[in-house]
Amino acid sequence: MSRHFHIATMGCQMNEYDSDHVAQLLQAEDFKPTEDPRGADLILINTCAVREKAEQKAYSLLGRMIGLKKRRSRVLIGMMGCIAQQQGSSLLERFPGLDFVIGTKELETVPRVFENLTKGGGRIVAADLTKLSIFSQSNPGYFKDRIKSFVTIMEGCDNFCSYCIVPYVRGREVSRPPDEIIKEINELVEQGVKEVTLLGQNVNSYRSSENQGKGFSSLLGKLNNIEGLLRIRFTTSHPKDLSDDLIGCFKDIEKLCPHIHLPLQSGSNHVLKSMKRGYTREHYLNLVEKLRRVNPDVAITSDMIVGFPGETESDFDLTLDMVKRIEFDNIYSFKYSDREGTLASGMERKVSLQKRAERLRILQQFQKEITLRKNQELVGQEVEVLVEGKSKKGNELTGRTGSNKVVNFCFNSELLGNLVRVRIKNAYANSLKGELIHGFSISSTGVLDGKWEN
Ligand code: 5AD
Ligand code: SF4
Repeated sequence: MSRHFHIATMGCQMNEYDSDHVAQLLQAEDFKPTEDPRGADLILINTCAVREKAEQKAYSLLGRMIGLKKRRSRVLIGMMGCIAQQQGSSLLERFPGLDFVIGTKELETVPRVFENLTKGGGRIVAADLTKLSIFSQSNPGYFKDRIKSFVTIMEGCDNFCSYCIVPYVRGREVSRPPDEIIKEINELVEQGVKEVTLLGQNVNSYRSSENQGKGFSSLLGKLNNIEGLLRIRFTTSHPKDLSDDLIGCFKDIEKLCPHIHLPLQSGSNHVLKSMKRGYTREHYLNLVEKLRRVNPDVAITSDMIVGFPGETESDFDLTLDMVKRIEFDNIYSFKYSDREGTLASGMERKVSLQKRAERLRILQQFQKEITLRKNQELVGQEVEVLVEGKSKKGNELTGRTGSNKVVNFCFNSELLGNLVRVRIKNAYANSLKGELIHGFSISSTGVLDGKWEN
């Protein structure tokens, strides 16, 4: 009888990538994936520790999963990811129904741990941060029917921003060799993947032994030559390390999508200093100007934290001022939360929870209007869309522009995985609606011409 596994993934793309790879390892051991945890023999929760809210969500999900054991006693439950790395064995003490804890660098042990436990072994913690992680264990077939995929190019972070838990739970920066990355992408392309998003906490400091100073832009140049790959994206960039060389890629690397996620975090120099970000608002504005000079269409998105310890009303106004000046395409904004062991958690002059919530509301409303206005500017324009599948409502096709905006449009034929041209008709806060420009589409092999009935 086949065994089933269920993985609940929380947090960033890095976790999604890790969950995929654990899924591959399990499938290689004849496990089958299931969406329904009630039918699983193994339940894994891949957790995020970056903000307090994510941590609370993980614990409440764990509580619910442990509840399932009452009806299905032989199910094994494991916690992986950043909380697992940070908390280690204390999780086993706190949650008697939890069977094992696997840190961020020991994912490959999951199948072995499962076998051990089913044979009657004791509860296990594997959370050695000094191990080199597996990165990739390809198993053709898993990515089938997928148009886009993440590819980790580096792990860890050396920056130690004062609010951030990541360096403590993901370890120091380690880059993957270019050949390994190219091999993985080639395999993905063979399985039908058309777009890859390269992942790293700070891709700008990607280093390959053969090309020290220009590691990341040189990697992009190589990936641009992969036949069948249509689009390349990357995330995340750190403003202090964004080189002119990489900015130039938005002009020179044709498959690189015109979108950069460049977390600003705060518009106040005094807060940026206390966050240990290593740049000023002036430096950031200069980067935006250079990016837009190289490619006026480049979409810029950002992360912002409100209510950092010591943030005054005028600091917050400076954040709003940056949002107004730059007109980001979108931002992800968060209330500051203390993370155990970070420098900021020990800082004085904490902003009240009420103020944090109020500032978040103001910032989000401010940006919402900008996002909508920018989307409205696209009405009447022609955009290039990579078709990813059916829209949420199921009656339209959906895809994204190079600038990463969601476009839905009507078409009754199979265009999955093709680049098509769409004219934008309506703009909303989170998506655009368009109409296929008939008789013209760009396929994976170049231009595909055809007459389609709508
Ligand atoms: N509190 C609030 N937001 C945080 N982030 C990281 N750490 C914290 C924290 N302690 C946000 C940053 C980062 C994003 C992934 O999460 O904006 O860019
Ligand atoms: Fe965290 Fe700063 Fe590293 Fe980003 S660059 S992961 S915010 S420490």
